[in-house]
Amino acid sequence: MNERQKLVQAINQETGLDIDKIDELIEIPPQPTLGDYAFPCFVLAKTLRKAPAAIAAELAVKLGRQLTDFERVESVGGYLNFFISRSSFITSTIMDVRARGAKFGSAEAPTADPVIIEYSSPNIAKPFHVGHAFTTILGHSLARIYKHLGYNVVRMNHLGDYGTQFGKLIVAYEMWGDETALQAEPIKELLRIYVKFHTEAEKDPELEVQARERFRRLEAGEAAEEALWTRFRDLSLKEFSEVYERLGVSFDNYNGESFYSNQIPAVVDLLTEKGLLESSEGAQVVRLDEFNLPPCIILKSDGTTIYASRDIAAVLYRYQQWHFAKNIYVVGTPQALHFRQVFAVLKKAGFDFADDCVHVGFGLVRFADRKLSTRSGDVIYLQDLLQEAVDKTHEVIRANAAARSLDLTEEKMSEIAEKVGIGAVTYTFLKNSRERDIVFSYEEMLDFEGDSAPYVLYTYARGRSILRKAAAEPGYSIEVSEAALLRLDTDEEFAIAKLIESFPQSVVKAAQTYEPFMVVRQITQLARAFNKFYHNEPVLSTADPELRQARLALVDAVCDVLYIGMELAGINPVEQM
Ligand code: ARG
Repeated sequence: MNERQKLVQAINQETGLDIDKIDELIEIPPQPTLGDYAFPCFVLAKTLRKAPAAIAAELAVKLGRQLTDFERVESVGGYLNFFISRSSFITSTIMDVRARGAKFGSAEAPTADPVIIEYSSPNIAKPFHVGHAFTTILGHSLARIYKHLGYNVVRMNHLGDYGTQFGKLIVAYEMWGDETALQAEPIKELLRIYVKFHTEAEKDPELEVQARERFRRLEAGEAAEEALWTRFRDLSLKEFSEVYERLGVSFDNYNGESFYSNQIPAVVDLLTEKGLLESSEGAQVVRLDEFNLPPCIILKSDGTTIYASRDIAAVLYRYQQWHFAKNIYVVGTPQALHFRQVFAVLKKAGFDFADDCVHVGFGLVRFADRKLSTRSGDVIYLQDLLQEAVDKTHEVIRANAAARSLDLTEEKMSEIAEKVGIGAVTYTFLKNSRERDIVFSYEEMLDFEGDSAPYVLYTYARGRSILRKAAAEPGYSIEVSEAALLRLDTDEEFAIAKLIESFPQSVVKAAQTYEPFMVVRQITQLARAFNKFYHNEPVLSTADPELRQARLALVDAVCDVLYIGMELAGINPVEQM
């Protein structure tokens, strides 16, 4: 048990307050003079019928007696301030990391509740642009965070593979499709003929009629149309997979919009049975006045289904299939209204799981300095962004290697550049609260001293290199005694231990608020604390063997936590750079 857990347990014993509630109420005071933890006693005033200050004063004495390895407990106003003993805090923190290993920061008793996380969801035959990168990276990290906390995560890619545009693509492909181009760069070719369709249709409206007819045939399951659609879908997916592979992202399920299209009649029946469908200007809608929302269109006037009805069918399917405890949509903020409407329709239809559906929105992506090389128009392809980041990282690594006369082969450098460059992009998406717009700047992204992936990766690699050197000594053992660990008590060591100890809370908070930046920020701070420690205190050259061993154990714990944090963010650690 670490100090915080001991504290929670002691407060629970003295007050009978719920453990989770206590954990939530515990604060980290802004100034060290107010202790290492604080607990506000105001919640107890009602039940105990006493003033918070009096409660705090009484509890300070009782808890002071009970918490033997704390330095002292004080009361100030209605607050309890706890002062921990540095060395025992550092010791129990390191022992905790060593005991739990890769599971550090995960739930000790996992719930295994099913959680659906839908992310990425690009559109077939359309470029995978930087906005899709945001949902992909954010969702991937959330999936890992939830998994780490013990949930049974289902990662879904709700592909945009349905709609009238497929009728247009079929017509366009038959008229102007270039087979070789389609094989080589499918999305580029599909985009070309799609754009051509629109310019041509302006001159010849007959094309639109043909497209509608082809879409109708596709919906009816006609072989020729279905074959083409399947091809477009497969080719697009192949191209998306290259991006996913590069990012290290994967999915458990690729049910796209088309998968749900034949479930719409059941949705319509259900809404009709419940008396929720109304005609409005020829369309079938569900009114949502009581939610202060515009009506949700279920069927258009021509009887075709829309995006929202496919989403409603999808939720029903997901619930039936997985009985989710949570159904999370990582989709840009501009779609907030759409999701509010979908959830409101479900609520109105009496499905309680509507309350377990969450839309996790995010901001826009902008570019600060230069114009990024784009292949067509002003969409920025993710592949181009990744490649540019990797190339620039390669330059930096080559320069660093030359400056420090490191012996790195060209091949090794490429391998490191790939991981660091991709990590740098990932980090940029996750470093701030997700609702904030992202401004890309290579200077910031690749700043080895700033808040960046290279900074964290470099710190990790440095820690690992210290440990490698120690391990290469004859007779080295990673064992460390408690007595040795108790020798750690400097400001720098204490700062590191505090950040490690609060890491599990940041993982939980990141999950609760759908904000992976909380984990990213925590490991960045840990990297900073580590570099300060390493700058001020010797590790390998510590003369006293016991203290040296303890410091190595601290380095080891830092590396473990940085590793877990990077994994949760979807950043691939490198052992050397
Ligand atoms: N394919 C859509 C797009 O690229 C996003 C889909 C979001 N998910 C959903 N269930 N509606 O904009």
